[in-house]
Amino acid sequence: MSTPIADVAVIGGTGFYSFLEGGEVTEHHVETPYGDPSGPIAVGEVAGRRVAFLPRHGADHRHPPHGIPFRANAWALRSLGVRQVLAPCAVGGLSTGPDGVAPGDVVVPDQLVDRTFRRVGSFVESGAVHLPFADPYCPGVSAAAAGAADDVRLGGTMVVVEGPRFSTRAESRHYAAAGWDLINMTGAPEAALAREMRQCYASIALVTDMDAGAESGAGVDQEQVFALFKANLERLTGLLTRTIEALPDPDGCSCSTWAEGVGLTYDIPG
Ligand code: ADE
Repeated sequence: MSTPIADVAVIGGTGFYSFLEGGEVTEHHVETPYGDPSGPIAVGEVAGRRVAFLPRHGADHRHPPHGIPFRANAWALRSLGVRQVLAPCAVGGLSTGPDGVAPGDVVVPDQLVDRTFRRVGSFVESGAVHLPFADPYCPGVSAAAAGAADDVRLGGTMVVVEGPRFSTRAESRHYAAAGWDLINMTGAPEAALAREMRQCYASIALVTDMDAGAESGAGVDQEQVFALFKANLERLTGLLTRTIEALPDPDGCSCSTWAEGVGLTYDIPG
């Protein structure tokens, strides 16, 4: 491929609309066969790497979780050359007790349950093309994120719900009883599309609330999610910078080879 414009991407979530400060930053308006991505993609240098930043909800949070142009985002990032993706996101906590999570925790999940139901989650439009997805996250990038601070936990299962509403208490208890740790509305199909784009992808989840079933009281509300994210923004940007410093070489990682020999029916851009 031609010289990449960016090698690494950070896809910002709720409350996270800018990342690249200082140095030269260029803005890229990328057209894709799937329409426009969530917004222009900023590219700058972080820790010697060319980093693309794309807020998945748009810089003004115009895209609700079920309206995010996931395919356009994945396509646009890959067409800039991105091979490693860091995906910070706000999540609710489901697991309680000694091994559970609490607001303020940062978790790098290792498993995903996709409970979304009205999103297009693939670039495959015909033929028998079935990519392995038993381990949805890149082990190398996840380890770099988990190693970037002492208080980051590696491992846990994130269930992704359709939204945009939060869960009922019964739904929340059901997810917790299944043994799942975190709940969110944007982690799917983002991770699967990254796999189809042969990218290494890791989620970095900030627990902003304990969802509806894990606590009595009014349940989770949007203000709480935004406030907790805002209070942790500096910590998260530091964590991302240290993760980028520690990223492994994507060459040789299984994430770029999963799609070999499965008869992809689309071209990888870039
Ligand atoms: N994002 C942050 N908190 C959440 C919750 N409780 N449910 C779904 N998505 C979330």
